[in-house]
Amino acid sequence: MNIMILPKPEIVAGSFVKDYEKIYAESCANPGLFWENIAKELSWYKTWDRVLDWQYPYGRWFTGGKCNIVQNALDRHMQTATKEKLAYIWEGQDGTVRQFTYGQLNEEVCRFANVLKSLGLKRGDHASIYLPRIPEQIIAMLGCAKIGVVHTVVFSGFSIEALKNRIVDGEAKIVITADGYPYKDKTIECKSTVDEAIKELPQVEHVIVVKRAGNNIVFNPGKDLWWDEVTKTQSTDCPTEQMDATDPLFILYTSGTTGKPKGIIHSQGGYMVGAYITLKWTFNLTPDDVYFCTADAGWITGHSFIVYSPLMNGVTTFIYESVPDYPNPGKWWQLIEKYKVTKFYTAPTAIRSLMRYGDNWPRMHNLSSLKILGSVGEPINPEAWLWFHEKVGNSNCPVIDTWWQTETGMAMIAPLPSVPLKPGSAFKPFPGIEADIVDDKGIPVPPNTQGFLVINKPWPAMFLDVYKNPQKYREAYWEVVPTKVYFTGDSAKKDEDGYYWIIGRNDDVLKVSGHRLGSAELESALVSHHAVAEAAVIGKPHEIKGESIKAFVILKQGVTGSDQLKEELKQEVRKQIGPIATPDEIDFVDKLPKTRSGKIMRRVLKAQELGQPVGDTSTLENQ
Ligand code: PRX
Repeated sequence: MNIMILPKPEIVAGSFVKDYEKIYAESCANPGLFWENIAKELSWYKTWDRVLDWQYPYGRWFTGGKCNIVQNALDRHMQTATKEKLAYIWEGQDGTVRQFTYGQLNEEVCRFANVLKSLGLKRGDHASIYLPRIPEQIIAMLGCAKIGVVHTVVFSGFSIEALKNRIVDGEAKIVITADGYPYKDKTIECKSTVDEAIKELPQVEHVIVVKRAGNNIVFNPGKDLWWDEVTKTQSTDCPTEQMDATDPLFILYTSGTTGKPKGIIHSQGGYMVGAYITLKWTFNLTPDDVYFCTADAGWITGHSFIVYSPLMNGVTTFIYESVPDYPNPGKWWQLIEKYKVTKFYTAPTAIRSLMRYGDNWPRMHNLSSLKILGSVGEPINPEAWLWFHEKVGNSNCPVIDTWWQTETGMAMIAPLPSVPLKPGSAFKPFPGIEADIVDDKGIPVPPNTQGFLVINKPWPAMFLDVYKNPQKYREAYWEVVPTKVYFTGDSAKKDEDGYYWIIGRNDDVLKVSGHRLGSAELESALVSHHAVAEAAVIGKPHEIKGESIKAFVILKQGVTGSDQLKEELKQEVRKQIGPIATPDEIDFVDKLPKTRSGKIMRRVLKAQELGQPVGDTSTLENQ
């Protein structure tokens, strides 16, 4: 599609960056200076000695600097008018509203940080946060960061095994959870999931439980603590720990090509700078904004762009506890009208599903407060882009399609509101970011040719490492192409104007409704069922979800396949990973295409399933 949507003059006039090409050229001519100037917009206990210490494949940013992201997210606002302003407005599925000014949020964070200290947690310790989308999720993250406790947030949609693996690998001493939470007309239990997950884990000393749904839980005196009870007696003052810029801030697990999720470690200082500026510039964030991001803080989008960056930028963030189509598909539009949301950030899968309900739902609401719309998590098809632009943004709001990853910590390829947009393209690299599209030898491919998306230079919010797996860090990201660049795992094309078009993952990682899942993780959940001998999982294009999950299963000898068994296998995956990973289709098969060394060739399965050419099969064991 060759449409170009030009920015409106008033948007350009109100933009932080009015001339992208000029700023981009300057940033690449002297990236150190560019990032240093951004870092100076934030507050530091001690300025850095060096902007970047790059020793391939490790980049350490702002070395020698002392800071704390919470100092920038909260503390520094306590001396300004921002203290009295709303940091968060939260609306529950039942219509309950909770609001926190920056001052109130700071008090709650201090209280919670003091609880952690009273339980003996200190700088460098690890905590797991397994909370639904409620304010305590954010308070817990900030409370940890404030005193240098490394948080690992686990999305509340994950189930027992997924949670357990993350607690074990992340070496958490404490788990923060809720009794349960409302999800449409059900209550999802969290506490019982935690109980199961930590049953054989003596490392977990305490479980702090927020009361949300009021469902019955098993309470283990001595180990379990009610959030309300432990926080209410604590002081609303707590000194913020002065961290090294290169200290870890959090670990967030994400799926890769093996069955074991990778613990992505992010830093205090570099992450702070990258997250701060990318949201500010891509969304033109200003203090009068009411910003609504529909992600969950259990994912990177929530970490960077619900918690840390909006607070550093001093805006009011609106959070809705539930899903877009409950109680009806007009819910988000009603909330945007009610809270006069100015900046709205969501995922293509949600746009596509709301689009299906027709134009009447957005039309029923006054959405004229909106100024900028954003998209993240998977490629957005031009049709969905245009619907979002026209029916939600009334053709007045730029649609900012931000490409990034858990590993990058910050938006990397994304338009600024002042640039001409092409529906379906994520525009070009953010200033200071050097990207390219290359072949398997690392050589740039010509325009309009598909290749691997790589990042050529280190960036401030780059991850520090894969937790306890530096080999993975090297092999999966820095040694895939021989030119020592960061391999994103995505394929893309660049057009003749230099616009990037992201095609999707080029490894065995699926994007299902924007959620990142590994084929291998799903397969290992399937083979843990007693009836299954082998399994292979592929993603298939899906109109709404982006990709759907199809599993090919070889049953053990003597077991006969049935619909009931398919249902059981689906339940197994839900139990092990979570409802987001439920296979859409399961086929029982006798054989799987494999290499001579026994590796399943999912690529062949996928091509066969989609009726596409199978490609090179020279390594296939059984032609
Ligand atoms: O495939 C890309 C896709 O999401 C992957 C990263 O997933 P995750 O770590 O969960 O982070 C998602 C939120 C930042 C990428 O490798 N992806 C993300 N944003 C886009 C995208 N694909 C196309 N367009 C995007 N805007």
